[in-house]
Amino acid sequence: MIMNKSLLQDQQDATLVDVTGPISEIRKAFVGQPDELIPMLQLVQRSLGYLPKQALMEIAQMTGVAAATVYGVATFYSQFRLQPVGKHVIKVCRGTACHVRGSGKILKDIEARLHVSPGETTSDQLFTLETVACFGSCALAPVMVIDEAVHGRMDSATSTNMVDELIHQAEAKPTEETADPKREDSHDLRIDEE
Ligand code: FES
Repeated sequence: MIMNKSLLQDQQDATLVDVTGPISEIRKAFVGQPDELIPMLQLVQRSLGYLPKQALMEIAQMTGVAAATVYGVATFYSQFRLQPVGKHVIKVCRGTACHVRGSGKILKDIEARLHVSPGETTSDQLFTLETVACFGSCALAPVMVIDEAVHGRMDSATSTNMVDELIHQAEAKPTEETADPKREDSHDLRIDEE
């Protein structure tokens, strides 16, 4: 099977990931039609937190869709990730309402605290930092989401304290838990107004 060159370049250094579980679930839940491509990708991401190359290849084989097309779909939709994420995903809103209320400083201070830029994961795999255009909760601006919890009316000190608290929690737990790339995904957002 011919893989998209970018896909190979992006993931050539990635260690092999066991995709047996989600692929087995896909075989049970789907018949392998091309129009099942997106729900298949969603299932893998729910299970592993991202879409490993092996999973994309398996899905291409199952559906008969070209691997380059599967890769194209995975990169087109922002809901999909091609790289593993940290145990905690922090998203800072950079929309207009949040920006005018200080989200830029919040982001800058979190970047400085974690030594990562948006789109990057800390070396200990504990945090992935991201930005979004708008969470749709502008009345609570500035907004930050940690995992599935939306935190409104944030300020720099509060946000960095929340990050520090997660660091302290991780330090108090066995280290193997922080290295696990799997994440519990929930479709229900909790909204915590600070
Ligand atoms: S601009 Fe930040 S939630 Fe809308």
